[in-house]
Amino acid sequence: MALDVTPVPHEQVVPTALPITLAPAPHAPQKFSRRRIFALAGAGTVVLVVGGGVWRAADQGVFSTGEGPAYAPWSDWRAATAGPLNLVRAAILAANAHNTQPWLFRVTDTRIDVFADLSRRITLTDPFLSEMHIGLGCAIENMVLTAPANGYAPLVTLLPDATDATHIARIDLTPATTNASALYQAIPHRHTNRYPYDTKRLVTQPTLDALSALNADAQVRILWFVGANQHKQVGDLMNAAAHAFVADKVMNTDDNIWYRATWQELQQHRDGITLDAAGLSDFTRVLGKMLPPESLDQQNSYFLSGVASQVSTAGAFGILAVPNKRDDAQRMAAGRLWQRMHLWSTTQGVAMQPLNQMTELADREVVLGTPPRFGTALTDLVGDSAWQALFSFRLGYATQTAFLSPRRALNDVLKP
Ligand SMILES: Cc1cc2nc3c(=O)[nH]c(=O)nc-3n(C[C@H](O)[C@H](O)[C@H](O)COP(=O)(O)O)c2cc1C
Repeated sequence: MALDVTPVPHEQVVPTALPITLAPAPHAPQKFSRRRIFALAGAGTVVLVVGGGVWRAADQGVFSTGEGPAYAPWSDWRAATAGPLNLVRAAILAANAHNTQPWLFRVTDTRIDVFADLSRRITLTDPFLSEMHIGLGCAIENMVLTAPANGYAPLVTLLPDATDATHIARIDLTPATTNASALYQAIPHRHTNRYPYDTKRLVTQPTLDALSALNADAQVRILWFVGANQHKQVGDLMNAAAHAFVADKVMNTDDNIWYRATWQELQQHRDGITLDAAGLSDFTRVLGKMLPPESLDQQNSYFLSGVASQVSTAGAFGILAVPNKRDDAQRMAAGRLWQRMHLWSTTQGVAMQPLNQMTELADREVVLGTPPRFGTALTDLVGDSAWQALFSFRLGYATQTAFLSPRRALNDVLKP
């Protein structure tokens, strides 16, 4: 049975007492020297050490993972001067599905209006825009956490214009005492971690309770799945959903638009899914960057073995549920909670990763009119007809620190 946790009043959850220092990183990601590339290549693929091997390594960013303009927003986010634009700089760093960054912001001295950028929707994977709204909620949460650090009290109004569904939120800013919370300070350190997690380190009940206590919204519930039976039940479904995703060639091909296969593409678009952030072994990651872009089949095989390892090493699984998964405001509330949970876990050295194929497949079944295999399985997992599964994830202690994902620049997301 899923453990249902009742929301607590907001006053109890403001995380001012959290430690500011971030927990030490696990095994840090490796940057590769040329010498090490040769050693790696020599171990398996001789062709890489001859001809254009070194050139391609440099050209593909093997020596500069996490660097260049596409990654600058992670270090530029805290501008020297306080002001509303700093809230947008933080919003840019929020979690969002496929890293499409589906947001635009109109900024004045006292107000920020947030808009959905529908050109950045994931057409077939997110037909009802659930993931888009969750990501927009994540961005709103980063802005709400950044407002006090810039001397503002934020007032959020969701969907302020009944005639425009893309007008996602209005955030009015009034002067207030400056306060930089621990969650605010964790913003540039939060990264989705797709590496295997340490199966010897358990996620304790107090950790799950602390995460549950971050939920201040009666319209969102966190369901936890722990212990061997629930691990198998949820894990099997996640693996099955990943396989179903790959088997759906139409959706799979459409989804692949967001994969950035080369370093040039990544630095140019500054969005999407990258090899560096995929949680691959260092060896596979580096070879993947040096060799010509993989075929979709090769990517799918990485993806499926990645999900299998992510599932089998998960410390626990969770689902965020809402009363109505088609309600935009509820989805944004869930996104705000996810961002807060991930920031808090960052302060504690706990890794997190959404694994959302189950809900993606459930939506796909609705679109295609096929039997609701994943829809029914999710209903069973939630076990309460008053709540619907919206978003699923795993957590645990990572074996390796995650790499950054790219981000677009401030100027690219401002709306006149
Ligand atoms: C609604 C939503 C669904 C997501 N689904 C997945 C998923 O199924 N698998 C995964 O590895 N990451 C998933 N992610 C994580 C995003 O890919 C990630 O946030 C994005 O690439 C940006 O990277 P970052 O979180 O490290 O900043 C999801 C994120 C959101 C908000």
